[in-house]
Amino acid sequence: MFKSKKSDSQAFVHVVDVSKSVGDANTLILDGINLQVFKGEFAVILGPSGAGKSTLLNVISGLDRPNSGQVRIDQIEVTALNEDTLSSFRCLNVGFVFQTYNLISTLTALENIQFPMKLAGCEDESLIESRSTDLLTAVGLIEKAGRLPYQLSCGEQQRVAIARSLSNNPSLILADEPTGNLDWTTALEIISLLKKYSIEQGKTMIVITHDERMAEFADVIIKLKSGRVAEIVRPA
Ligand SMILES: Nc1ncnc2c1ncn2[C@@H]1O[C@H](COP(=O)(O)OP(=O)(O)O)[C@@H](O)[C@H]1O
Ligand SMILES: [Mg+2]
Repeated sequence: MFKSKKSDSQAFVHVVDVSKSVGDANTLILDGINLQVFKGEFAVILGPSGAGKSTLLNVISGLDRPNSGQVRIDQIEVTALNEDTLSSFRCLNVGFVFQTYNLISTLTALENIQFPMKLAGCEDESLIESRSTDLLTAVGLIEKAGRLPYQLSCGEQQRVAIARSLSNNPSLILADEPTGNLDWTTALEIISLLKKYSIEQGKTMIVITHDERMAEFADVIIKLKSGRVAEIVRPA
């Protein structure tokens, strides 16, 4: 349905022989993962609960370290960065969307979107104001700018979270079960919104889900099973 943006250029996200174990090294959560996602691709990582999807996403972002293997994002080997460099790299280059939205409960919708910019050290108040206003407008919620998260529906909270994930204009968006708490109609709105940003702004997205219906949005479907890549499909 959607054309793959794969080209001969090098992968934007490149996972090479990544393994991760916990406790005694016999408990492998990720077992020799290899995958590539190209710039602008909308990748869906599909797999049942416990397959290792969240662990893989955390390893890709550098929130979690693998026991072996490498992760490269835009040619930068994130697995080789120290904690400080990694956290500023993440702050500037990666946007996150979570199943439970993770909005700050004491901040308004607009303030939640502004938060990552402030965290990244931006001191240009007018830029912060205009960018957050634009993003909230783009997700259709500007009239609810002053609301706290509990005053928004689940779908609205996730739209705010998507706007927040874009606030530092990252090149990569990682979403862990972004529609997991939503009914199907709202889930479709959310996944369509992510897809729109992928197409219009060339954002590379990696979206985790256990819902096979999401696969129709994907440029690449990566099927994960028991910590291994079972299949990688790029629909024609
Ligand atoms: N810190 C940890 N300690 C022990 N087991 C873990 C830890 N993190 C994840 N696991 C286990 O690893 C497997 C994969 O977890 P996860 O990546 O959360 O899977 P998914 O997101 O696909 O549901 C699960 O069996 C989970 O219980
Ligand atoms: Mg998970």
